[in-house]
Amino acid sequence: MARRKSWWRGTGLRIAVFVVGVAPAGLLLLDGLRGSLGANPIETLQHTTGDWSLRFVLAALAVTPLRRLFGWGFLAPHRRTLGLFAFFYVCLHLGTYVGLDLFFDWSVIAEDIFKRPYITAGFTGFLCMLPLAITSTRGWQRRLGRRWVQLHRLAYVAGIAGSVHYLWLTKADLLSPLVYTVILATLLGTRLWFRYARRTTRPARSLS
Ligand code: HEM
Repeated sequence: MARRKSWWRGTGLRIAVFVVGVAPAGLLLLDGLRGSLGANPIETLQHTTGDWSLRFVLAALAVTPLRRLFGWGFLAPHRRTLGLFAFFYVCLHLGTYVGLDLFFDWSVIAEDIFKRPYITAGFTGFLCMLPLAITSTRGWQRRLGRRWVQLHRLAYVAGIAGSVHYLWLTKADLLSPLVYTVILATLLGTRLWFRYARRTTRPARSLS
């Protein structure tokens, strides 16, 4: 029984995370090949990849709070995979925008980054995720030591930038971007609470 439980929490969860990670891209590819990406295929690609990138950023950020609140330590090994899927989808998202939407028109792309606030926010999110993906290996973790933990706090900045990007680009129905923002705020709040609790419960230093 205990062995089965540990299999589900290890290998089983690894397979589940992988399947959930590749399924949206696989379905997009399938729909693309069948020509059923809707009336505006570029928009479908942009929206689906953006949504999944943000979902994976939030899922990766949820690992530590869930581990500390409920003792779900078995989630910790999957944080890296979740983060890498977030990066994979943001690359597809950026690729759709650069290649399919703007046809590699670098001057328009540069103008968008500097002049359209929601693109500036999205690009900031991408720039935060880039070093996280590069340094996600054990080798980089060892080399950077404590600085690795500090660097990986950028994941929060990426989450904030992604949520702001989504809020900014949405003109009508704000429900969906607001749901993501509330989840992110809860995760950030939990983190700050842990920090506060750790400080206040730390035993006072003896004067002797
Ligand atoms: C690399 C820089 C980025 C660029 C150039 C970019 C560009 C875009 C564009 C053009 C859209 C569609 C806007 C519209 O239809 O009016 C969009 C939507 C979106 N993007 Fe980005 N984005 C970037 C980064 C990000 C990041 C880092 C995230 C999240 C982590 C993200 C999440 C989203 C979401 C959730 C949507 C809306 C999807 C929906 O409506 O269902 N984007 N982005």
